[in-house]
Amino acid sequence: MADIRLEGVGHSYDGGRTWALKPMTWTWRSSRAYALLGPSGCGKTTLLNIISGLLSPTVGRIWFDDREVTAVPTAGRNIAQVFQFPVLYEEMSVYDNLAFPLRNRKYPKAEIDQRVRRVSQLLGLDEHLKRRSRRLDPGRQQIVSLGRGLVRSEVAAVLLDEPLTVVDPALKWTLRSKLKEIHRDTGHTLIYVTHDQTEALTFADEVVVLNEGAIVQAGEPAELFLSPAHEFVGHFIGSPGMNVVPAEIADGLVKVGGTDVGQAVGELEPGPVHIGVRPEFARLGAGETSPGLPVRVTSVDRMGAYNLVHVQAGDHPMIAKTEADARFTPDAVEFLHFAPDRAFLFRDAVRCGSIAPLDGEGAP
Ligand SMILES: Nc1ncnc2c1ncn2[C@@H]1O[C@H](COP(=O)(O)OP(=O)(O)OP(=O)(O)O)[C@@H](O)[C@H]1O
Ligand SMILES: [Mg+2]
Repeated sequence: MADIRLEGVGHSYDGGRTWALKPMTWTWRSSRAYALLGPSGCGKTTLLNIISGLLSPTVGRIWFDDREVTAVPTAGRNIAQVFQFPVLYEEMSVYDNLAFPLRNRKYPKAEIDQRVRRVSQLLGLDEHLKRRSRRLDPGRQQIVSLGRGLVRSEVAAVLLDEPLTVVDPALKWTLRSKLKEIHRDTGHTLIYVTHDQTEALTFADEVVVLNEGAIVQAGEPAELFLSPAHEFVGHFIGSPGMNVVPAEIADGLVKVGGTDVGQAVGELEPGPVHIGVRPEFARLGAGETSPGLPVRVTSVDRMGAYNLVHVQAGDHPMIAKTEADARFTPDAVEFLHFAPDRAFLFRDAVRCGSIAPLDGEGAP
């Protein structure tokens, strides 16, 4: 296991005209379980392939601890990589497929057997060990591919590129918790690529959010939810995502339309900003001392455990999440409050400050 450090690493597939991965400096710390989360085309696979050596970056250098590996081919990097679709020797048995990476590196026979059986047991492959791989369904074949990626002990990292795409949805949950168990067991550095926020948040110690070839935020799941550093993180994580409303800063106050909604906190020049607030932290009802932002209720989705109240703040639609027994009627005018420390200001999509209650206003 090693820290994997990217130093100004970037990649262009078209001779520098566009960057699939913008030059970045970033360290993957040894033994952590990371999720690399982002939409299709944001550069996730490009980044993994650069780490494993399948792709040579256009610019930058890569270090495994103190060893520079920028020019070292895949075989010399000691990385296990699991792809979206099964990569197996179809004529070999499941056992031999799992044992292959170990035999290749001359593990002692007894250790091979022990490791194969441990992984097979964790992944539920015991009854299939003797079968030829090609006789398994694609989902099961992918689980064997996963096992091949996890069977070695001395790898620098295990890279998993959307490994559960072809696996039956019901099995996905089980496999994800198995992966966590294996991670606790082996202490491998794991990088798990996904575009599914639930998958990322349930799996990882740390989620790295990639958008348009750049890391926009990295942190524990709760941090990304409670304290988004970029509008994209607000949209992409959470369901529904963060509300974004245009606002103005003047005289140290945040104004939406003609209404003062709070004090601006942060080193902020006057002028336009966006307010970002998650539905969970947009409260509807009368404030204690300040009136709040007037909004018109457009509809209410009853979700059972809670309600989603859709409102219109001037021209801007917003959503507030309320208790299941809260009653709001369409067309009523209500007042919206921003929970202290949970509403943020953004400029050019990057967080630049937050909103504090107006003087004399208690916590709503
Ligand atoms: N071999 C290639 N040649 C040219 N452009 C490429 C190549 N591979 C990827 N790209 C482009 O680079 C960008 C990043 O692609 P990449 O495959 O890394 O994204 P991704 O996040 O893995 O997407 P997905 O979730 O769809 O797998 C995309 O715009 C893609 O079209
Ligand atoms: Mg990809």
